[in-house]
Order: sequence, then structure tokens, then C-alpha cells
Amino acid sequence: MTTQQTEQQYLPVDLKRELLPRHVAVICDGNGRWAKKRGLPRIMGHKRGVDALKNLLRTCKDWGIKALTAYAFSTENWKRPEEEVEFLMTLFGRVLRQELEEMIEEDVQIRFVGDLEELPVGLQKEITHAMETTRNNRTIQFNVATNYGGRLEILQACRSIADRVQKGLLQPNEIDEAIFERHLYTAGSCDPDLLIRTSGEMRISNFLLWQIAYSEIYITETLWPDFDRNEFHRALSAYQQRERRFGKV
Ligand code: IPE
Ligand code: IPE
Ligand code: MG
Repeated sequence: MTTQQTEQQYLPVDLKRELLPRHVAVICDGNGRWAKKRGLPRIMGHKRGVDALKNLLRTCKDWGIKALTAYAFSTENWKRPEEEVEFLMTLFGRVLRQELEEMIEEDVQIRFVGDLEELPVGLQKEITHAMETTRNNRTIQFNVATNYGGRLEILQACRSIADRVQKGLLQPNEIDEAIFERHLYTAGSCDPDLLIRTSGEMRISNFLLWQIAYSEIYITETLWPDFDRNEFHRALSAYQQRERRFGKV
């Protein structure tokens, strides 16, 4: 291992360990624009986007962040051209197969969040296998939001809670935040402390609507494939300057 790689494993000295976010969520946006700027097809941006995500996962692990959630494909992204959607589905499967061994070695717990039943059957099988194989890993939780929509997640939670009420297992007045959370795809995860969006768009695009109630938001103009360790360092520095009040004074 080169000296540089060894050095990078450590948290930069200007960041305070006790102020690190426990959970970082990212809206990985700007792959298409990254490719367009270089005269390349959009899919090349998605390929480079995978590299950026792999690097971010490694950095989070090296720096002691316990959970990373990445928005890979939204419920609205099906409306893109068929070739792009097909390319993305194939890419997800391929990357999962290629990276699984290393995730096992690195003690990464991978979890896919979203309406997984609508994904191609082959990909669903890869996903189930990867989630089951890494289920007991504890160093970092890596959530991949795939066919994810915040509104759909909330609706599906409502349906399953209503079902329990109908069966007489739950009283309407017993439904509280804790019970509601248990019916979300992200059940068992803490809420993101920091939400990052790349490529400068000032919107949430249906991501983690329930979970980001009190997340700190950081938006950068950098396009997702260019989001590297230095960019992440900047995002964490900005986060550490924030005063999180949670409604108090
Ligand atoms: C984000 O990049 C990746 C996915 C939504 C799958 P985009 O593909 O949205 O890139 P832009 O926003 O068009 O540049
Ligand atoms: C959000 O990006 C979804 C993902 C990053 C997977 P989009 O590119 O789909 O969002 P909009 O259309 O700009 O809101
Ligand atoms: Mg986009």
C-alpha cells in the first residue's frame, strides 16, 4: 500500500471525531451532465458514478462513519429512456456481483431500500443474496435506495399499519413515530444526520421524506462522478460548523 493510501485512512486532523455524522445520505446527481460535458453518452456518467460511490463508501468506513445511504434509482427514474433504465439495472447487478466479496471482507452490511419487487427478477435475486450474506456485518451499514420513493415508502407503511389495525393487532391510538418507523424500508436505521446533494439542484426529489426531518443539508455544484474525498471532507467541515437545535433554543 502506498503512503498516500495509508494516510487517507485517517480522519483529517481538522475534523472532530465526536462531531462526525453517524449517518450520511447522498443524492448522487449529475452523472448525465458529467458525461455530456465530455461529449460522452449518459451511461458513461453512470459508470463513473459507481466509482465515486465506491470511493465514498471506503472513505466513510476509513473515517468511522457508521451508515451511508445512497440514492441510486428513484420511482420516477423509470420515466427515462428505456436503454438508460436497462443499462442502469444491468449495471446494478454487475457491480453487486463484483463488489460482494470485498464488502464481506470489509464487514459492510449492504441493504437495498425501495420497492424491490418491481426490479428485474435476476437483480432481485442478487440483492437478496447480498443482503443475506452481509446481514451480520457491523462496521458500516450501506443502504442503496433503488426504486425508492419517499411517498411510496410512506404509503406502503400506512398500508401495512392499516392491515395490522384491521386484524385487531394494533389500536389506532397506539400508532406513534416509533411504530411508524418500523414500517418504513429503513426500519432499524437511525435518521441521516447529513444529507448531501451533488450537481447544485436545490430539491429533495422524493428522497427519505420522513427520515430527513432534522437532517443538515449540504448542496454542492460538483457533479456526482467528481465527488471525491476532498469534496466529502468539505461537506463534513461544513456540517461540523452547524448548530443543530432540533427546535430548541
Ligand atoms: C443521477 O444522475 C443518477 C441517477 C438518477 C440514476 P443523473 O442521471 O440524474 O444526471 P443528470 O442530473 O441528468 O446530470
Ligand atoms: C434524483 O435525481 C434521483 C437519484 C439521484 C437517483 P434525479 O435526477 O432523478 O432528480 P430530478 O429529476 O433532478 O429531481
Ligand atoms: Mg439528475
